[in-house]
Amino acid sequence: MAKMNNPVRDSFSGRLGIIAAAVGSAVGLGNIWRFPYVTGENGGGAFLLMYLLFVIAIGMPVMLAEFSVGRRAQRNALGSFKKLAPGKPWYLIGVMGIVASFLILAFYSTIAGWTLEYLFQAAGNSFAGKSSAELSASFDQFHTGTFRPLIWQIAFMVLTALIISSGVKRGIEKYTKILMPVLLLLILIVSIRSVTLPGAGEGLRFLFRPDFSAVGWNSVLVALGQAAFSLSIGMGTMITYGSYIRKETNLPVTAFQVSVADTIIAMLSGLMIFPAVFAYSIDPAAGPGLVFVVLPNIFSMMPGGYIFSVIFFMLLSIAALTSTVSILEVVVAYLSEELNMARRTATILGAASIGVLGIFATLSFGMLDDVTPFGRTFFEWFDYISANLLLPLGAILIALFVGWFMGRKVFNDEISSGGMFRVRVTGLFMFVLKFLAPLAIAIVFIYQLIGSS
Ligand code: TRP
Repeated sequence: MAKMNNPVRDSFSGRLGIIAAAVGSAVGLGNIWRFPYVTGENGGGAFLLMYLLFVIAIGMPVMLAEFSVGRRAQRNALGSFKKLAPGKPWYLIGVMGIVASFLILAFYSTIAGWTLEYLFQAAGNSFAGKSSAELSASFDQFHTGTFRPLIWQIAFMVLTALIISSGVKRGIEKYTKILMPVLLLLILIVSIRSVTLPGAGEGLRFLFRPDFSAVGWNSVLVALGQAAFSLSIGMGTMITYGSYIRKETNLPVTAFQVSVADTIIAMLSGLMIFPAVFAYSIDPAAGPGLVFVVLPNIFSMMPGGYIFSVIFFMLLSIAALTSTVSILEVVVAYLSEELNMARRTATILGAASIGVLGIFATLSFGMLDDVTPFGRTFFEWFDYISANLLLPLGAILIALFVGWFMGRKVFNDEISSGGMFRVRVTGLFMFVLKFLAPLAIAIVFIYQLIGSS
């Protein structure tokens, strides 16, 4: 199969391998950093409910659609559409995906750099004995700086590039399989500390008691964007990974397991952050710095806080790494397959150009914080354009492609692995991809536009 058209095509070694890699892509800063802070900015419980709804009704089916496109075509995110729809403009989905990869990785690597700094600080025992105010001040001082955040960001990009250049299987699989379960365990332990802090109850109410009077259409769009971002869908990551999945793997089961694992980690992150937010009287709408202020507070008040904080930030960095790898892989697979570039050259070119863009994202918190064309910093623009525009738009188009162009027969053949598995929900998935997902996303877009003008 894969071997026929491309003898060097790498693939995952069966079930656990692909689940580990896809979970590795999905679980990252999106769950532990972005989810809590956007939930905090958008009012809590009602936002959480919308997010969950989008994950189930749109995210999971679109993830399956992406897997099926990639495995069918055995190509990268752009080449897949060229192969399945020759001479048609569907490949523009791939173009959008490449653009989104650049933007996402540019700002994602900023935050990934912050996690390295915090790993370093944790290892130096710098949280112990500090007050809440001191911890906030030290975060402010660090993230508004120039050299330190830049150095960490560059270090992170180099790590990502090193893993990518050694290939998908050896590079990605090995780490995720072992480390993700450990991360889950640690988040659980820290959540327990958080919910048992005095004053934690208010955080639980904030997270689990929906107040719909607090949400406008903009929050609906942010919830949709967060669902897509967290599941790594809408830009071809899961198409690219799908192309490395072997024929014997059950795609619907995989999409389901990946979505469930990703959602559990996000929910637990909420449980870890919000009780502490209220216990320490931190503003839930504090923005991108939220978890970097809250977590050290929890660790500084936890028996064994030192060792927990070191392991935690180490795992968080690794979780971020398995995600950045999946983003860069979209670009590298495209460059090497479509433009015939050597994998190493493609990696260096991709990582270096994204790195340049990333500098603007990082300095958005420091010396470029007053450069705000059309009211947003570079960081905010990269985030906004990718998560709130390109990913939902990509999701609509991928759904339409599979629903209307690829069609039920091919889709069913792919998700059943040519009849090897019995899939009883093909009809339901087709309905979602043809109608529900495109319409729901379009409605959210339109209302958000009307509402914000
Ligand atoms: N989902 C990852 C996270 O939650 C980030 C990520 C990886 C991503 N690949 C992506 C986001 C593709 C959007 C699209 O951290």
